[in-house]
Amino acid sequence: MKYAKILGTGSCAPDKILSNKDFEKFLETTDEWITSRTGIKERRVAEEGINTSDIAYEASVKALEKANMPASELDGIILGTISPDFIFPSTACILQSKLGCGNIMAFDLLAGCSGFQYALHVGNGMVCSGQSKNLLIVGAEVISRIMDYEDRSTCILFGDGAGAAVISQSDEPGIISSCMNSDGANWKLLYMPGGGSRIPATEESVKNRDHFLKMNGKDVYKLAVKSLKTASVEAVERANLKPEDIDLFIPHQANLRIIEAVRKRLDMPEEKVYINLEKYGNTSSASVPIALDEAIRAGRAKKGDIILTAAFGAGFTWGATLFKL
Ligand code: UT7
Repeated sequence: MKYAKILGTGSCAPDKILSNKDFEKFLETTDEWITSRTGIKERRVAEEGINTSDIAYEASVKALEKANMPASELDGIILGTISPDFIFPSTACILQSKLGCGNIMAFDLLAGCSGFQYALHVGNGMVCSGQSKNLLIVGAEVISRIMDYEDRSTCILFGDGAGAAVISQSDEPGIISSCMNSDGANWKLLYMPGGGSRIPATEESVKNRDHFLKMNGKDVYKLAVKSLKTASVEAVERANLKPEDIDLFIPHQANLRIIEAVRKRLDMPEEKVYINLEKYGNTSSASVPIALDEAIRAGRAKKGDIILTAAFGAGFTWGATLFKL
């Protein structure tokens, strides 16, 4: 049996930091409120001129270095994002050109904050079926460009960043199970009204602030806890493993309270859960690959470890992936 194995990871966070204290200067909020409700202390914001493809490129170069693979050996790029450089062409195509790889398959995948999980799922299928040998899987966001900095219930949550992983065909176990889900009936819980075919850009759409992300935080919260738990349990069961076999759980870094609730429901000890949201906030599709890369580089995730990742996001989408590093 063939597996898709993660050979290398990389990540990139823009240098500029926006702290909770910075928000106090222009919003009716406090560091205390943000920290106690979310666990987030600061997030990164890309300077003008730095776009999603730029940070995706930085993360991808590092992942290729770790995998010891030249870009010319890639045969595909799948990039999850909700804040692409343009609606079209895809950011994956721009990344393909920046990396100077061959004329390989490259496409964006839109699954909200589950974008990296979905991209890994699709990539896993392509590698296991023999259609692809080496794929670059990316989650990248300059989500600050679609944040409404007058809406205190959303703008304090999100930050910019990118994470990437090179997956390759292997005889040894890599990705063992992967479960993705959606519930389109809940699309209105988290979305951006403007810019698509329903509400194209007009003076009115700009005035209505339609080109910014909107969210019903309370309902997303409830669904997030439920879906992260269900997908994680399913991924563990499908792999014929038990929760105690997991060496490290890397959940979507959206809210510390959500992570804590899921951790308790999964009966997972604190030391087995990787958390870095205090530094980056919610980087949407980049959150899991950034955390995975940091965990590997810090020695928290080692070769041979069993890793469980899980995410939820706009769509509504959710999913979990279990793999041996
Ligand atoms: O990848 C998916 C991304 N989305 C998520 O993960 C979001 C999930 N949801 C959440 O994380 C939480 O619902 C939030 C952090 C967004 C909000 O926390 P909450 O405990 O659900 O607060 P709330 O929405 O019930 O608001 C409580 C109060 C409200 O005031 P009133 O109506 O009680 O007077 C809000 O207006 O807190 C107010 N509030 C704020 N106060 C200070 C909302 N945002 C802020 C703020 N600073 N930034």
